[in-house]
Amino acid sequence: MGIESMKQLNIWITGASSGIGKACALTLAGAGHHVLASARSQDALAELAEEAQGLNGSVSTLPCDVTDVASITRCVEWISDRWTGLDVVIPNAGIGYFDPLENAKIEEWHAMVDVNVTGVLNTLHATLPLLLASKGHVVNIGSLAARQVFPNSGIYCATKHAVLAISESLRTEFKGQLAVTTLNPGAVNTPFIDRTTNDELRANYRPQFDVGMTPEYVAEAALFAVESRGRGIVSELTIRPDTRD
Ligand SMILES: NC(=O)c1ccc[n+]([C@@H]2O[C@H](COP(=O)([O-])OP(=O)(O)OC[C@H]3O[C@@H](n4cnc5c(N)ncnc54)[C@H](OP(=O)(O)O)[C@@H]3O)[C@@H](O)[C@H]2O)c1
Repeated sequence: MGIESMKQLNIWITGASSGIGKACALTLAGAGHHVLASARSQDALAELAEEAQGLNGSVSTLPCDVTDVASITRCVEWISDRWTGLDVVIPNAGIGYFDPLENAKIEEWHAMVDVNVTGVLNTLHATLPLLLASKGHVVNIGSLAARQVFPNSGIYCATKHAVLAISESLRTEFKGQLAVTTLNPGAVNTPFIDRTTNDELRANYRPQFDVGMTPEYVAEAALFAVESRGRGIVSELTIRPDTRD
């Protein structure tokens, strides 16, 4: 659906300083929508704002740590002050630390739960009133790990199973009031795996991500989902790297 026939949507994306979130910001603004892009890294947000100059829509940026409710509240206040409503939220901020369970560091487990689950819940709890008012759309970022459990990333998989359950819960309880999409990508070539502190695993996994999908491909799926209004709802979409070559 082109911009001629599509309303300009107001969209908040968390974790938009890098990878999939950044690609979503640029792709959605490129399609004419208004994006609030947030993350912790202010330098990276400034670069994003620069890159977004001249697009059909707009990218505004605001620092936000999704584990901090006060920080989330500041973003929602920004939205309420500047926009007539919020149409779409993409709680994309997420991290993964890969390690076998027997080596695991409890602070890495806590960090994954804090960002991937509590961060998503903080974002959704704060935005639900606005989204219900607009009959809006939640686009959660799951993963193949939302449906499968892989070795060396069991707790990451647990957090993504939780994201999918949260999506299904919203879809069930807000039927007819909200659209809910879960995007489940396989490997995407972003800095995601570089956070892993197990040097051997990080080096072993990096090539799989190098040949993964581009973040822009996932962003195109997000665009397709948010522009589907009135035609149907993409409730869950699995996107895998093309391994035919
Ligand atoms: N890459 C993959 O293969 C893949 C596959 C399936 C699903 N996913 C999911 O896709 C999402 C994005 O990952 P990515 O691959 O794009 O990784 P990425 O490039 O590392 O991006 C992660 C983003 O999350 C932000 N972030 C981390 N902690 C945060 C916090 N406490 N508060 C706010 N923002 C925070 C980071 O920004 P700051 O550090 O600036 O805050 C960054 O913008 C995640 O939910 C991930 O689980 C990734």
